[in-house]
Amino acid sequence: MSSTTDSQGTPFHLQGNYAPVTEEMTATDLPVEGTIPPELAGAYYRNGPNPRSGESPHWFLGDGMVHGVHLERGAARWYRNRYVQTRYLTEGEDEVIFVDDQGRVDHTAAKANTNIVGHAGKLFALVENAFPTQLTRELDTVGLHDFGGRLTTAMTAHPKLCPITGEMHFFGYGFVPPFLTYHVADAAGELVKSVEIPVPGPTMVHDFAITERHAIFMDLPVVFSGERLLEGGMPYAWSDDYGARLGVMPRGGSAEDLVWFEIEPCYVFHPLNAFSDGNQVVLDVARYPELWRESAADFSTASLHRFTLDLAAGSVKEEGLDDRGIEFPRIDPRVEGLPHRFGYAVRFASAVDGPALQSLIQYDLSGGGAREHDFGPGRAPGEAVFVPASDAAAEDEGWVLTLVYDQGRNASELAILDASRFDAPPVAMVKLPQRVPFGFHGNWVPL
Ligand SMILES: [Fe+2]
Repeated sequence: MSSTTDSQGTPFHLQGNYAPVTEEMTATDLPVEGTIPPELAGAYYRNGPNPRSGESPHWFLGDGMVHGVHLERGAARWYRNRYVQTRYLTEGEDEVIFVDDQGRVDHTAAKANTNIVGHAGKLFALVENAFPTQLTRELDTVGLHDFGGRLTTAMTAHPKLCPITGEMHFFGYGFVPPFLTYHVADAAGELVKSVEIPVPGPTMVHDFAITERHAIFMDLPVVFSGERLLEGGMPYAWSDDYGARLGVMPRGGSAEDLVWFEIEPCYVFHPLNAFSDGNQVVLDVARYPELWRESAADFSTASLHRFTLDLAAGSVKEEGLDDRGIEFPRIDPRVEGLPHRFGYAVRFASAVDGPALQSLIQYDLSGGGAREHDFGPGRAPGEAVFVPASDAAAEDEGWVLTLVYDQGRNASELAILDASRFDAPPVAMVKLPQRVPFGFHGNWVPL
C-alpha cells in the first residue's frame, strides 16, 4: 500500500476512527447486551496513539491514551480513558527523540502509546524508545519506572511474561550503541539481568520472543535513517544491504552463547509465540515481505509464518502458514514460550483510507485451520486478548476480548467472545460512552 492521504492531504491516522478523541471520561455501570461471564474479574486495558494537538507526523507518534473497562461479578463497573502524563503533555515537549550533546538518548521522554502490561503488582504504559511509565489501575500516571536506576536502556513495549517463573523478559534498543540489550526482571519486579546483544547496526526491533529455554531476537533490515529523522517522522527505512537474522540465546546465557540464523529479508513487528522442541526452536510471526521502502507511511500486510531453527544443524526452515493479511497476533498467556495450539489475530487489508481492520481470526495450529469472527458491516475489531476461564481451563476454554468500532453509530463496544465457539455471536457487548480510536495493544489484568 502506498502512502494514504485524502484529497486534503490528511494522513489516514488522523481520519475516521484513527482520529483522536478529545475527552477524558469516566462512566460507571455500563449498559451490556448479553451476559458478562462472572469469572471475568479484572480490567481490560488498551493503549494507543491519541495526539492531544490533533496532529502527529506518523500513526506511531501520537500521545499515549489508555482506555480501560473494569468487569466484576457479571457487570461492567466502569470505563475510563486517560492520557499517559508524559513530558510531552506536562512540559510541552515536542521533539520526537531527545538526544543530549554526548549523543545519548533521554529515556525519560516517552509518548508511552503502544502497550499496557501488568507485572509484579505494577501497571506499565510502554513505548519502545523510553522507560516504562507506571499507572494506577484507575489509569492515573504515577511516573517513570527505571527499576530503581538499574534500567539504562529504553524498554520494548512487548515484554514477555514467563508463565512458569513469573519473570518479565524484555529488551531495549536504540540508534546509538548499545543497539540491543536483553533484560530480565524477576517475579518480584527486580531487574536481575541485563546483557548486551551484539548486532551490526541500529535496526528497529519492535518485539521478540521467549521459549522455556531461549530468548529470540529479530535483527531485521529496517534500519535507523538520519534522513527520515530530519523529516520528522519514523526515523527508520528498509535496507537492501543489511540482511536479516534471528538470534537464539539461552535464557541463562550470555552474548557468547548467541547463535544467529540468516533468514530471507523481511520485517516482523510481532511474533505470535515461540517454543523449544528438542534442538529446535519454533517461532511463529506476522511477517511482512518488506516494510517502509519508499516511506515510513507505507503499510503492506503481514501473514502468519513459521521459522523452525535447528540449533544442532544450524539450519532454518521457513513456511507460510496462511495467506490472509493479519496483525496483532496473540496467544493464551499461559502458553507464552510454550507449545501453542491456538492463535488469534486481526485480519487486515490495505486500503486507501488506511489499514482496514476486518475481522478476528482464531487459528488452530494443530491442523484445525482457522475460524473467523466477523462483527458485521461497518464494524471493525482491534487486537484480541484471550482470558482463560480458570487456571486449569483448556487452551480454548475462555474468553476473547476486543474493542469493536461501529462506523454506523460512531461508537465503540467491548466484545466478549467464547473462544470455544469463536464464530458464534458474542456472549456480551459492553457499550462504551465514546468511540475508542484504533490503537495498538492491550491486556487483561485480573483483580
Ligand atoms: Fe506492537
